[in-house]
Amino acid sequence: MSDKSKILELAQKYKTPLLIVDHEIIRENFKKFCKLLPRVKPYYAIKANPEAQIVNTLYKMGSGFDVASWEEFMIVYDVLKGNQEKKKLFMNENVIYANPVKRIDSLKKLNNYYLQMTFDNFIEIEKIAKYCKNSRLILRIDVPNTGSVVELSTKFGAPQNICIDLIKYANKLGFNVEGLSFHVGSQCSNFNNYIDAFEIASQIFEQSEQIGNNLTILDIGGGFPVPYDTQIPSFDELAKILNSSIKELFNSPEINIIAEPGRFLVATSATTVVEINGKATRNDKTYYYINDGIYNTFSGVLFDHIQYHFKAFKEGELKESAVVGPTCDALDKISLDEMLPDLDIEDLLYSENTGAYTNASATHFNGFPPAKIVHINT
Ligand SMILES: Cc1ncc(COP(=O)(O)O)c(C=O)c1O
Repeated sequence: MSDKSKILELAQKYKTPLLIVDHEIIRENFKKFCKLLPRVKPYYAIKANPEAQIVNTLYKMGSGFDVASWEEFMIVYDVLKGNQEKKKLFMNENVIYANPVKRIDSLKKLNNYYLQMTFDNFIEIEKIAKYCKNSRLILRIDVPNTGSVVELSTKFGAPQNICIDLIKYANKLGFNVEGLSFHVGSQCSNFNNYIDAFEIASQIFEQSEQIGNNLTILDIGGGFPVPYDTQIPSFDELAKILNSSIKELFNSPEINIIAEPGRFLVATSATTVVEINGKATRNDKTYYYINDGIYNTFSGVLFDHIQYHFKAFKEGELKESAVVGPTCDALDKISLDEMLPDLDIEDLLYSENTGAYTNASATHFNGFPPAKIVHINT
């Protein structure tokens, strides 16, 4: 969102810290994803931003949803129930439970919903067989995450050499494994990761067919990068690569290709407006203390490894400044390297592209509540 006067107007109306989510941008991102990847059905990974209004907007656009906990599942369930969705359609088509290791109490509850769910190890198959027999299994495989900002392969994904044994074990416990999933790591700008992942998945599809377990779903995960800075290669370029891998290795119309985009759909939709509470000079640099920080909207600096930047509403000669959060913790520094004009307390700043992994991981540390969220163009 780049309309400065609109941002200011909303900040004056709702007060700061304020996270403005523009649903028109979410719809545009969704349309772009579907247009450039016509074979791929997106399941929005709601962990990126679990606001019910966002789920609602994406549901209306035709998105499915990737959930990682019973609680996320219930957010989607409530939105769909609000749209008077029929239960059966909801259970089978609209949700993938894409956390390879699940809580037992969640599995027991999920048994009523016949969900697609991922797994990547033997113990998990036993858990699912015991507590959630009514499931459709998707095997999460290990793929390279080289250069991705958030590496996921260090925690999840079955190595290729045990995949067939896992499928055989699932068969033994009464399941036909329906598909494979992978995740190349979040904010992936090394597109070779996708190429390698398709190659590995295609080999496992073939080996699985040989043992009589036909796979019909390929879930290509998330990772689609967002242009936080100009270095990021374009989504158009990535789409070409993905389409050509799909054509070469998964051309059969009997294979359903799905994805779990999180960041790509929502990151650019939000702008956060903050107020300067304090100002000090340290080591010849001006430090601005604002009313939001690492423990709140800018939690992504730590958890998501993203460097957010700030813009001022005031004009003036720019000089290197630091922007830090309101808590007593010295870790609570958002950026030590912002080019800003000379500002005063009570001046406002704004930060764009703050829609993914921001409010989702905000805390109440030190008593500072997370930013208010306002949804526009819903
Ligand atoms: C299983 C799974 N799917 C999808 C996503 C969303 O990834 P991204 O935001 O990179 O699209 C994540 C992110 O951690 C994930 O763990």
